[in-house]
Formats: sequence, C-alpha cells, structure tokens
Amino acid sequence: MKISLGSDHAGFELKEHVKKYLESKGIEFVDEGTYSPESVDYPIFAKKVADDLKNKKADYGILICGTGLGMSITANKFEGIYAALCLYPTMAKYARMHNNANVLVMAGRLMGSTLADETIDTFLSTNFEGGRHERRLNEIKDFEK
Ligand code: RB5
Repeated sequence: MKISLGSDHAGFELKEHVKKYLESKGIEFVDEGTYSPESVDYPIFAKKVADDLKNKKADYGILICGTGLGMSITANKFEGIYAALCLYPTMAKYARMHNNANVLVMAGRLMGSTLADETIDTFLSTNFEGGRHERRLNEIKDFEK
C-alpha cells in the first residue's frame, strides 16, 4: 500500500508527524509538499495528491490543512476522488465502510498527533462494506457524468 501525502502550511506540522508515523509502521508514502511552514495555497497540494491517485502512484491520499475543509472541497472536484474529512477514528471507520473514501482529510489546527495516528490506523484498516452502499456510490458517480 502506498500513500500520497499533502498539506498546506497549516497542516505542515501534522504532515511531518504523519510521515514519521507511516515510516514507523513501514507504510510507503510520497510527500507532495508543502515542504515548509511558509504560507501556501492548499488547492495546489490537493491536486497533486488527486493526480497521484489518478496516475496510480498511490492507493490512498492523506491531505491536511487547518480545518480540513479547503482540502476536502478541492479534492472532491477531481473525478474518482472521494475525500472524507475525519476528525476522529469513528468518522474514518464510516468513511471507509460506507463511503469507500480514498482520501483521508485531517485538520492540522484541530487534531493532536495521537488522534491523527488513530484516525489513520482506522482509515487504512477498514474495508468498504459494499451492498447498499455500493448503490449509493454509483448514484454519486452518475452525478459526475
Ligand atoms: C489557512 O489559513 C487555512 O485557511 C487553510 O489551512 C484551511 O483551513 C482552509 O480550509
């Protein structure tokens, strides 16, 4: 499994933590920036991660901005991206089980590192349930046409 990671300045510190966490778990990742706490625009990084998923350079994405809102709004503009803002593990559990989300979005200004670790663990270890949820996701895909 490979993860594409991206953040703006408000998510930079948490992204740096997440890199260490993924490393400690032996999970491969590509860091698409930002690479410093200097102010940047979040849409650029949401696109980089979306492109990695589209080009099969990664299986899942993790995006972090201050609230997670800007990254969610941007990432969901790209076809095939189902980005879910998860502020705690239960949201991550259902984002995978019911929504089959492929991008986990977190809030660098609202979440501590332990909460982020547990949210990532849950996201990466939970499978999509399919069934009635598949039908609903197909309805979303119809709207994309
Ligand atoms: C940056 O100040 C902040 O607006 C951004 O990180 C994000 O929270 C936007 O949704």
